Parts: sequence; structure tokens; C-alpha cells
Amino acid sequence: MADHLNRFLVLTVLLGLFLRFCHGGVTSTFVRKVEKTIDMPLDADVFKVPSGYNAPQQVHITQGNMDGSAVIVSWVTQDEPGSNTVLYGTSEDNFEFHAKGKLTQYTYYNYTSGFIHHCTLRNLKFSTKYYYKVGIGNTTRHFWFTTPPEVGPDVPYTFGLIGDLGQSFDSNSTLSHYESNPIRGETVLFVGDLSYADNYPNHDNVRWDTWGRFVERSVAYQPWIWTTGNHEIDFAPEIGETQPFKPFRHRYTVPYKASGSTAPFWYSIKRASAHIIVLSSYSAYAKYTPQYKWLEAEFPKVNRSETPWLIVLMHSPWYNSYNYHYMEGETMRVMYEPWFVQNKVDIVFAGHVHAYERSHRISNVAYNIVNGECTPVDDRSAPVYVNIGDGGNLEGLAANMTYPQPKYSAYREASFGHAVFSIKNRTHAYYEWHRNQDGDAVVADAMWFYNRYWSSADDSITIFS
Ligand SMILES: [Fe+2]
Repeated sequence: MADHLNRFLVLTVLLGLFLRFCHGGVTSTFVRKVEKTIDMPLDADVFKVPSGYNAPQQVHITQGNMDGSAVIVSWVTQDEPGSNTVLYGTSEDNFEFHAKGKLTQYTYYNYTSGFIHHCTLRNLKFSTKYYYKVGIGNTTRHFWFTTPPEVGPDVPYTFGLIGDLGQSFDSNSTLSHYESNPIRGETVLFVGDLSYADNYPNHDNVRWDTWGRFVERSVAYQPWIWTTGNHEIDFAPEIGETQPFKPFRHRYTVPYKASGSTAPFWYSIKRASAHIIVLSSYSAYAKYTPQYKWLEAEFPKVNRSETPWLIVLMHSPWYNSYNYHYMEGETMRVMYEPWFVQNKVDIVFAGHVHAYERSHRISNVAYNIVNGECTPVDDRSAPVYVNIGDGGNLEGLAANMTYPQPKYSAYREASFGHAVFSIKNRTHAYYEWHRNQDGDAVVADAMWFYNRYWSSADDSITIFS
């Protein structure tokens, strides 16, 4: 009898291990208490206007050139233009350098923006903490950031991943979880849909301001790399606003010219050991368009001996097994997926679907209209697709999934959260996703990535915590 029991236990354990490491997909059994996602009210403390005359607000930074030795500092002043200058230096009491920025302002229907400043700090030393201050001459505010290490193949670096953030109570929870994650993210890769101001009457641009104040506590201190989503389009001919991306373009400056791009919606940067390509789901991408031509010329420029990790950011996912935005990314996938496989992209981060999903390494490039082969297949040269549109905006969770779970889907869960992608060296990177309901150190989904250029080994085994 004891023998039978032992055999049964061994079989149960083996079956458990098989289910854990086999190539099947997992739909999380985590049950989230269903609550309505509500925006934080205008008088919430996270939206507080800094005190003092003409105090700089909505301070944010992003990478300012190709290799990370420049930083763009942006901020808004409300009472008057004030100074364009940023003072900065490597010690808290010696702001030995200064840079002069540019000023912009825009109107949107019945809204007039504050005075928006963008200033690029150049020729910074790598791996160095810089202190900076803005608002010279009136109320001055102090911040700091750390530059990345010099670009190189084995440079460790940790990226945070946030998407579709918005400004709800859940958004605040996501940002707080990211900030207190024991694996410290050094730069956020943001996959689009920032403020959701367009969900308010007449795209109330006051909600762009509140969002800028809300995220300042992170983005004034570490760069966020911007991707545009559908909530950045702000195309509203019914109120006379016909210039797409108008608020985003005035408020968020990116270094697109450094990569030969002709628009701020698609561009690339190198940071530490990663080459990051940002694409625009909402700009033309068909053959002969500016984005197509740029991307075609971009892949040959990627040097995996210098930047082994090839990361792509976009808003609308190519692989998505939720019943939301299903196949919205399909036409871009058809255009660009062969390039991604040929060039061995390591990982694609997207958002748009307000939930979490990670794919296996799969491709769907065989289809040529007559052969009927249109099923995704295992492909070790293909990227892993991660949908991280679970920042927590007011539109709420995408909780409705397709069943059965498609084979290409490795893990999916309808919870809000964030992820980190932590590069260790040219061959290994550790990825993990955190849901907001858990403590800071709890990992809900994880995977060790083997670099697609430097290792052909199968890295499809999921590590469940
Ligand atoms: Fe979206």
C-alpha cells in the first residue's frame, strides 16, 4: 500500500513538473477582486502643483542622443515663460554647467498650455550622477539623474516596462510598485498611452498636465523612453483639432534625428548593451512610407557585437489572445515580422490591451496568400512578445480572453502591473512581471532570456515563482 502511495506521489510530482516546464501556455489562476478603475480626482496629492511663483512642474527627462551621453530635460512653467536654462553638475553644491533650452506652447480647442521647456544636456560622462535645477530666477527646483554606462556588449542594465498608464488609483499603484521593486529599474521603456486626456470632454488637456505632475516623481529622476499609442493621436476634427499627436509632440521631445528618423514617432537609441527600436502603430508603415524606409535602413545598422540585445517597442501588439484589440496589430505584423525574425529581435514590448501576456518564441511568416500556412510556429529566431498594457488606466482591465489559450501564448493574466528586463551580459537577461496585488518582491511571471544573436539555445522554459 505504502509502495502504491509512493509511486502515486512520484507520478504526481513528475506530472506537476511536466506541466510547469512543458511548452504549453498558462492562463493564470490568480483571481483579482473586480473593482472599477477610477481616475484620481483633480485635488489628489499626486497632482499637486509645486508651490512658489512660476515653479517648474511636470519635470521629465529622456535620452537625448544615440548613446545616452545626452539627456533632454523638459518642464512646464505656468505664470510666465521664465528661464530656459538648466544648471547642472556632478555635485550637489556645484552646478558647474549650464544649457539653454527652447520654449513651446500650444492651444487645443479651448485650452492653452503652459510654457513648455525642452533643454538638451550634452557631452555628459557615462555612469555619472548629475544634479540639475530648473526654474532659474524664480522658484528653483532640484533633481538628479544617473547617466547610463558607455555602450558595450556586456554592460548590465535594467529597464522597467510600463504601458497604458493613465492616472487612476491603479496607475498610482503600478508606479509605486515599479518604484519599490527590489530590482531597481534604471530607465523606463514606456509602450504608449500616457495620460488618457482624450477620454475627457474635448480631450481636456488639463489631464495632460495632471499626468505630467503625477509621473514626475519617477521621470524627473530617470529617463522614460517614449512610444506613442492611440491616446496620443488626439485627432478631433469635430472640435477643429486636425493635427495628429499635437499635445504629445509639444510636451514630449525624443532624439529621433539621431537615428536618421524624420518624425518623433519612430526612432532608435542605444543604451548600455541594448539597441532599442521604437515604432509607431499609428503612423503609416506600409511599403515606401517614411517609417518603412527608416526601419529597412535601421536593421543593418544594429551591431550585435556592440549592443547584443535588440528590443522593439510598439503600442499595438502583434500577438494577443484577449478579446480586446484583437488583430489590430496584424497589418504591421505582416509588413515587418520577417525582418524581426531575420534580424533575431530578442523581445518586443507592446501595450494597448489592458492586461498581461507573454508569448513563446514564434513566428508566422510562411503565409504567402496561396499556401494557406498561416499558423504561428515555434521559431528560435523569433522574438518573445510581451504585452504590458496593464498600467491601470481608467478604461479598466481587459479580462475577457479567447479559449482555448493559443499555443503561442506562454502566460496571460488580467491584472495590472509592471515588468523589468534586467540584462546581465551579452548572453543572459532576466525578465519578470509583477502584479499590483502582490508585495514588492513577489514575481508573478519570469523568464531567463538567452540572447538570440549570441545563443541559439532554447530559452522557452518559464520560471514560475
Ligand atoms: Fe492603446
